[in-house]
Amino acid sequence: MSLYSSIASTGSCLPERVVSNVQLTEFLAKRGVETSAEWIETRTGIRQRYICSEEETNAHLASKAAIQALERARLLPGEVDLIVLATSTPDQVFPSTACLVQGAIGAKKAVAFDIQAVCSGFVYALTIADSMLKSGQFKNALVIGSEVFSRLMDWQDRTTCVLFGDGAGAVVLKADTQPGILGCKLHADGSLEHILNAKGRIVNGQIVGDPFLRMDGQAVFRQAVSVLGQSALELMHEADFDPSKLDFLVPHQANVRILQSVAKRLKLPEDRVVVTVGDHGNTSAASVPLALDVAVSQGRIKKGHHVLLQGVGGGFTWGSVLVRM
Ligand SMILES: CC(C)(COP(=O)(O)OP(=O)(O)OC[C@H]1O[C@@H](n2cnc3c(N)ncnc32)[C@H](O)[C@@H]1OP(=O)(O)O)[C@@H](O)C(=O)NCCC(=O)NCCS
Repeated sequence: MSLYSSIASTGSCLPERVVSNVQLTEFLAKRGVETSAEWIETRTGIRQRYICSEEETNAHLASKAAIQALERARLLPGEVDLIVLATSTPDQVFPSTACLVQGAIGAKKAVAFDIQAVCSGFVYALTIADSMLKSGQFKNALVIGSEVFSRLMDWQDRTTCVLFGDGAGAVVLKADTQPGILGCKLHADGSLEHILNAKGRIVNGQIVGDPFLRMDGQAVFRQAVSVLGQSALELMHEADFDPSKLDFLVPHQANVRILQSVAKRLKLPEDRVVVTVGDHGNTSAASVPLALDVAVSQGRIKKGHHVLLQGVGGGFTWGSVLVRM
């Protein structure tokens, strides 16, 4: 019998503090940074974002999202075989955030590791976990995207600091005799590393290089629209899937104008695109599982629906996963 994997449940967690555009604008004005709530909303679709306090950590958000997903899948932490966690903002150099989550939730027998593909992290993690379940070595996996991007923000740089937020999303993936994950397709182009990066590193006890996120917004925008459209069509073609049968697109949530352009290119009505960027901002690797959890919790995405998950971000990296829920 062929082995496949399918998504059994979703979960998510947001920090306690929500920061509206007006609140952020006031905070920035005190630092001499000029922007407006209206500019942020009209150019990006973002109305608010969640920001961690100093006490809240990546592992804290990820563990809460994981526990919610496990409860919904009726799986005990001690039964988890594998934890794959996507993040570019780990709590520490090592051990991995996945190991911190494994310890925090008591998933004693789980193999645990992080992967880093910036805003494509969750689709990379899901693809890896799907392959590991298909190998027959593991029966289930927690796949998590979790970020504290607020810690990479230069609050003097209005072209980036208004865009990002913190959060975590998780899914439980189970080995199955029927395919839930219908296909995965990943890409990377390291020649574009300069358009989105955070170059700082620790050397001999000092941070060497720029510790903040830097971005050429227009270059990233153009690249994102182009590769998301291409990648969706490529994967559906390879999976022999008729695009008109797609129930929902859950793309990486960076800018509502990027999502609208991709929907147009795929001839997908806007009500079939899950849009949460207005509420969460860009939460990098957490954005896709957070958006998926919102749509599932609202009852919009239901069992049997065909859903295309899409990531795009620094690296440059991008990819798609086609799922029957
Ligand atoms: C960043 C982004 C919102 C900028 O929007 P844009 O419409 O391209 O804006 P531009 O960069 O052309 O800037 C237009 C003007 O707004 C200004 N501006 C930029 N940020 C601003 C802000 N927060 N508030 C007010 N004005 C701002 C610029 O300085 C520029 O002014 P100028 O014309 O006097 O130089 C947009 O490019 C984007 O979303 N890019 C992709 C970001 C992304 O997805 N990143 C993550 C990918 S994983």
